[in-house]
Amino acid sequence: MENQLLTIEQALSWAKAQLNANSVSDDGLHDSASIDSKVLLADCLQRELVYLHTWPEKRLDQMQMNKFKDYIEQRSSGHPVAHIVGYRDFWSLRLNVSPATLIPRPETELLVEIALDLNLTEHATVLDLGTGSGAIALSLASEQPNWLITGVDKSEQAITLAKNNATKHQLERVNFIQSDWFSVLEHKQFDLIVTNPPYIENNNKYLQLGDVRFEPSSALTSGLDGLDDIRSIVSQSKHYLTDNGWLVIEHGYQQSDQVADILSEQGFRQIRSELDLNGLPRVALGCL
Ligand SMILES: C[S@@+](CC[C@H](N)C(=O)[O-])C[C@H]1O[C@@H](n2cnc3c(N)ncnc32)[C@H](O)[C@@H]1O
Repeated sequence: MENQLLTIEQALSWAKAQLNANSVSDDGLHDSASIDSKVLLADCLQRELVYLHTWPEKRLDQMQMNKFKDYIEQRSSGHPVAHIVGYRDFWSLRLNVSPATLIPRPETELLVEIALDLNLTEHATVLDLGTGSGAIALSLASEQPNWLITGVDKSEQAITLAKNNATKHQLERVNFIQSDWFSVLEHKQFDLIVTNPPYIENNNKYLQLGDVRFEPSSALTSGLDGLDDIRSIVSQSKHYLTDNGWLVIEHGYQQSDQVADILSEQGFRQIRSELDLNGLPRVALGCL
């Protein structure tokens, strides 16, 4: 193996064996060695995943081999695939990522779908709270060219990242601003507020597993029950929504009842909960 140039098929099976002992997905339950190896190899070859299946007998050159070995070493020591390659695909966009904020998750695409299904007007005003890489705001902008979208985040680095992603996808019309939730928004009114806020309990053991070890706690945790930020966002949102405006919130799969109660206590109506692909309640919404 030392200086051997492997074929795509051989490289994948070598990498899978290397990762099998170490590679776990976020929940620590599922083996991700196979898909991780493929994403990393495709990046080394600067090709799409389908190329690996089409050309299993193609041999890597020395540079590709060295890069792949380096990637597999990083992954073996736990670094998230998205941090190694520098991007994550979300919705229809390839987004740059960084350790400053959350790596966008596929679950969050549910929130994007729900927001798009709300039948808002053509020139709806939309706010994405805790925008991170800009994943939600940019996905909405890519589907709704006339929506006026603002994304805010407390982290200056996250805002820089979101702006870079906007430029990368020619979506510079999305307005990204550094703000502690609503603090710099003054009296603006929105037809829709979307948010995937931090919602993990401070001492959740999940924080010691998988990719989340490499993500900032400012993007993940929110007090003892994980709901501090959601409580704060819901109570403030009332002052920033138009009549009949919607608030759509991603939350933990065990927090659905509590989030519905918080929405109801703050006067929201038409409250409902939406299930993710695993049948778990992950998004709550209500309108004023
Ligand atoms: C769970 S991440 C979501 C990132 C992105 N929206 C996504 O879905 O991939 C939560 C984001 O909220 C931001 N955040 C945390 N507290 C905040 C606050 N007080 N004001 C604004 N943003 C905050 C974090 O910096 C982080 O980027």
